Amino acid sequence: MTVDATQIAEGAPEIAPKELVDWVAEVARLTKPEEVIWCDGSDEEWDRLTSEMVESGMFTRLNPDKRPNSFLARSLPSDVARVESRTFICSEKEEDAGPTNNWADPKEMKETLRGVFDGAMRGRPMYVIPFSMGPIGGPISQLGIELTDSPYVVVNMRIMTRMGTDALKLIGEGQPWVPAVHSVGAPLEPGEEDTTWPCNDEKYITHFPETNEIWSFGSGYGGNALLGKKCFALRIASTMARRDGWMAEHMLILRLTDKNSGKQFHVTAAFPSACGKTNLAMLQPTIEGYEVETVGDDIAWMRPGPDGRLYAINPEAGFFGVAPGTSHDTNPMAMDTMQSNTIFTNVALTDDGDVWWEGCDEPLPEHLIDWHGNDYTPADAEEGKLAAHPNSRFTTPAAQCPIICDDWEAPQGVPVDAILFGGRRATNVPLVAEQYEPAHGVFIGASVASEQTAAAEGSVGALRHDPFAMLPFCGYNMADYWGHWLEMQDKLGDKFPKVYQVNWFRKDEDGRFIWPGFGDNARVLDWIVRRADGEVEAIDGPTGRYPKREDFNLEGTSVSEEDWDKLFQIDPEAWMKEIDATEEYFSQFGDHVPGPVQEQLAKMRERMEAVKNS
Ligand code: GTP
Ligand code: SPV
Ligand code: MN
Repeated sequence: MTVDATQIAEGAPEIAPKELVDWVAEVARLTKPEEVIWCDGSDEEWDRLTSEMVESGMFTRLNPDKRPNSFLARSLPSDVARVESRTFICSEKEEDAGPTNNWADPKEMKETLRGVFDGAMRGRPMYVIPFSMGPIGGPISQLGIELTDSPYVVVNMRIMTRMGTDALKLIGEGQPWVPAVHSVGAPLEPGEEDTTWPCNDEKYITHFPETNEIWSFGSGYGGNALLGKKCFALRIASTMARRDGWMAEHMLILRLTDKNSGKQFHVTAAFPSACGKTNLAMLQPTIEGYEVETVGDDIAWMRPGPDGRLYAINPEAGFFGVAPGTSHDTNPMAMDTMQSNTIFTNVALTDDGDVWWEGCDEPLPEHLIDWHGNDYTPADAEEGKLAAHPNSRFTTPAAQCPIICDDWEAPQGVPVDAILFGGRRATNVPLVAEQYEPAHGVFIGASVASEQTAAAEGSVGALRHDPFAMLPFCGYNMADYWGHWLEMQDKLGDKFPKVYQVNWFRKDEDGRFIWPGFGDNARVLDWIVRRADGEVEAIDGPTGRYPKREDFNLEGTSVSEEDWDKLFQIDPEAWMKEIDATEEYFSQFGDHVPGPVQEQLAKMRERMEAVKNS
C-alpha cells in the first residue's frame, strides 16, 4: 500500500503551505512510502520514535541510570563515514564544480535519481522534517525540509537542528526553504523483515547548487544522511554565500575571555574532519586568566555586520562528534555534554549498558559488545581489533555543553577576531604562524594539507590537500571560493580577521607529538590575543610570523627548548618540495586561481630560497 496525494494533503499540518504539500506528494509519488509522517520536533515524537527503534532493534537503550534517554546504533561496515567518491555537485557547467568535486550533469543526474528513488521508500514511512539552520527566524538562519525514510535521521536531526513546528511556521509564512530528499534505499517487500541498519551498496549524495536542491540515496550515516549539516550548511550554503556576500565555513567558533580585563575575543578555526575542532571548541585552558566558551564545533556561517566586522553563527543545534580519543583528559566538556539525551553510533557497549571506546576514561573491560555487535575481549584488543569504529560518533545537544556560550544562539552572531587554519602535519608545519597580509591568509587556507582520518572513506594517514578544510564541502569551484575570500577581505578591509596557521600534530623522530595539545592549545590562543593587542612582536619567518619563545607562555609544560626549536624548525629542502606540490595542486584549477594567491606562492618560494641560501 502506498499513500496517495489526497491522504497526504489531509494529513498535512494546517500551517504547511500548498507548495510544500505538493512537493511532498510529488516525492511520495516517486518513492512510494507506506505513509507520510509530519514531524513536530516534540518530546512525544522523540519518545515514540526512539521506542519504536528499540523495538525494531535499530537502537539499544543505554542504562538509564548511567545515560538517561540515550541510545546506541550500529551501522553496517559498508556505511560508516562520508562517501566522497559518491558525492556529486550537479552544476550546469562542469567548470563551476571545479576539478576537486565530482561533477554530474544536472539533467542526467536527475534522470538517474528518478531511477534509484523510484519505489525506494516502499514499505516504510516517509518523515517530513522541517528544520532551521541557525536560531529560528534569525537574520543569518536558513530553513529546510528533509524528507527521509529513516527514523534514525529524524531523531539525529532533532538534536542537530532546530526541528519541528516553529520552522514549519516560518515556511508557512512564505520564507524560502531548501528541499532535501533522503532515502536509505532499502525498500521492504510486504512481510519482509527490516534489518537494524538498512542502506544500499549504491550511494548518491547529490547537490544542485543552482536550484538549491539536495538528493541523497543509499546511506544512513552522518553527513551522508543528516542533510542539514554538510549538504546544506556547507555545500549548498557555500554557493548561496558566494551569491549573497557571506561565508559558509567548516569552522568551530569559540569565545575566549581574558578574566582580568574582561575582554572577549572570538576565534573561528577550520581543521579537516577529525582533526580537533570539537576539542578546541571546548578547550579547558591549562593557563590561568582565560575562560573558553563554545559557540559551535563544526560549521560557521559568517556575515558582515552593521559595524563592518565579520559576525559568525553556528547553524547547528548539536554536536556530531568523534567518540574515540574523547575522555575527561582530552575533552571533559564533551564528556559532560553527552551524559544524557545522546545518540551513540558505532561505539562499543559495556555489560552494564553504557558506552566504551578506545581512548575513553575507563580501561578496557573484560567483556564488551563491539561496534559489529559481537563479543569483544582483551584478546581481541591484543589482535589489534577495535571495539569502536574510528569514526564512531555521539550526537548530543549543544545546549547541554557546560561551557556553551550565553550568546551561542544570538541571531546576529558573534564578532570574529581571528581565524585559524590547521591540519594533521607530522612534519614541516610550525606550531603557529601569523599571516603577513590578507592575501597571505587566503594562501594559508588554500594550502592546507592534512593526513587523512577515518571521517571519510580513503587511506587513513595519507597526506592530502584540503584547502580551508573544505575539500569535501565546497559546493563550487574551489579556486573561485578562494576568490570569494579575497573579495570578502577587500570588502571588510582591516576589519577582516587576521589568519593564523596552526599545527598541533608535529612529531619528532620517535613519532611522539612534540606539542602537548588539547588544553595547552590555549597557550597559542594566548599568544594570538596578545598579538592582536599589539603586546608582543613576532619573528618574520618563511611561512609567516612566529612567536618569540620568551613571549610565549610555556610555564608548566614539558616543552623543552629543543622541542620548541623542533616545533618551528624549517627544513628548506622539504619545504621546496612542499611548495612544488602546492604549485602543482594549484595548477589543476588553471586560471581560476586568483592572481593574489599565485603571488603569495611566489613570495613564499622567495622567502624559502632565502633561507636555503643563508
Ligand atoms: P569533524 O567532526 O569530523 O569535522 O572533526 P573535528 O575536527 O571536530 O574532530 P575532533 O575534534 O573530534 O577530533 C578528534 C581527534 O583529534 C581525536 O583523535 C583527538 O584525540 C585529536 N585531537 C584533538 N585535539 C588534539 C590536540 O591538540 N593534539 C593532538 N595530538 N590530538 C588532538
Ligand atoms: C566531518 O566529516 O567533517 C563531520 C562528520 O563533521 S559528517 O557529518 O559525517 O560529515
Ligand atoms: Mn566536520
